[in-house]
Amino acid sequence: MTDQPRKLFIKTYGCQMNVYDSERMAEALGGQGYEQTQDVSEADMVLFNTCHIREKAAEKLYSDLGRLKGQKAMNPDLKIGVTGCVAQAEGEEIVRRMPMVDLVVGPQSYHRLPQMEQAVRAGGRAIDTEFPEDDKFETLRSRPRMARGPTAFLTVQEGCDKFCAFCVVPYTRGAEVSRPAERIETEARGLVEAGVREITLLGQNVNAYHGGEGGLAGLISRLARIDGLDRIRYTTSHPNDMDEALIAAHGEEPKLMPYLHLPVQSGSDRILKAMNRKHTAESYLRLIERIRAARPDILMTSDFIVGFPGETEDDFQATLDLVAEVGYGAAYSFKYSARPGTPAAERETVPVDVMDDRLQRLQALLSAQQTAAQEAMVGQVTTVLFEKPGRRPGQWGGKSEHLHAVHVTAADDLRGQIRRVRITEAAPHSLGGELIGS
Ligand code: SAH
Ligand code: SF4
Ligand code: F3S
Repeated sequence: MTDQPRKLFIKTYGCQMNVYDSERMAEALGGQGYEQTQDVSEADMVLFNTCHIREKAAEKLYSDLGRLKGQKAMNPDLKIGVTGCVAQAEGEEIVRRMPMVDLVVGPQSYHRLPQMEQAVRAGGRAIDTEFPEDDKFETLRSRPRMARGPTAFLTVQEGCDKFCAFCVVPYTRGAEVSRPAERIETEARGLVEAGVREITLLGQNVNAYHGGEGGLAGLISRLARIDGLDRIRYTTSHPNDMDEALIAAHGEEPKLMPYLHLPVQSGSDRILKAMNRKHTAESYLRLIERIRAARPDILMTSDFIVGFPGETEDDFQATLDLVAEVGYGAAYSFKYSARPGTPAAERETVPVDVMDDRLQRLQALLSAQQTAAQEAMVGQVTTVLFEKPGRRPGQWGGKSEHLHAVHVTAADDLRGQIRRVRITEAAPHSLGGELIGS
């Protein structure tokens, strides 16, 4: 039994940062002899890396835990842990509600997982939702060498000081912290040596990055000098932190991809104020003009909340007007969900049927824009970083510069290659094309 690796199953909910965190947690537990499995039924430890952003996301944890009850009853040695933003927000409450949970650890303390794992193996329970003095990235400094796919996430900034009235992130991830640029560069170089060609820099407020000279633009130009790193992206940005240098980088840095997720949430100034977003619809539109002046073909995406407390039909119409004016390549839209502890949770809510109706109307407009953006690609030549075989034999799939999913048919193994492709057809969620040149 001792030399047999233990099996670790991780389920990841929520944003890209959780995807990155799950990788780092698996690496941390790798040192304890754990190997990842995709099959929960053979797991010795199951971790749920959770999201607290909307009620539905948080409640998913409890239904998934419920489903594991039988397995835990059959195998009392199975250890179950809850990590991520629900762990941070609910802490011991999770164990009270679900006594089968052995371990609860927040997003800032997961470097302590190895010790916590030992404690639960010894039959105890381990709960850690502190915002610790020691920095997890320092403790987990070097990442194990392993073959990786051609794309990777890299967290450069974490936490948020913006306190939008609806949002739990400042409470679950804590205050804004930037990692030092030289550490990020070292991690990026390691990823590139392992086969990565595209890195997406992550932060809840990534463009507020201040861990090195020149902010995020400075970091991007530093990373762009790494040979073998061909593409750089970043997400998620706040409109108020788009500085001149970052806008200029979109025009000047060829490795920075022409894609920007810039959530606006609403097109109504009254609602933006109530949300504490600290910008207006007009200032957002002018900002997009400046970004497009620097990089005319940039593909813009956003997040929207419908039915924020106090939202009237006129306010909602202002959101539709803003969407019509911007023309998004893609966007996420959500019904407002009241979150415990946030200022907006105290306010009177918009009726559910009104929210449903607005969500439908907004999504119809956004999906028409997405289709138009996909169709506009037909006939164009772009580059694609190929990641994996497609569904049909001989098919390969990857991402274009604008982050469109693209597939081609080719006899060669295209994994990890960046190739020129002429787009020949647009389907609702992907583009088809043909390789050109060599
Ligand atoms: N840091 C990012 C977004 C974090 S959360 C930013 O500032 O843009 C991702 C998206 O979830 C948000 O942009 C918002 O549209 C949505 N969201 C956050 N809290 C929400 C809530 N209480 N109800 C509904 N949607 C919410
Ligand atoms: Fe949440 Fe606002 Fe911070 Fe984004 S900027 S993480 S929406 S508080
Ligand atoms: Fe969710 Fe936490 Fe990310 S609440 S969206 S997992 S920062």
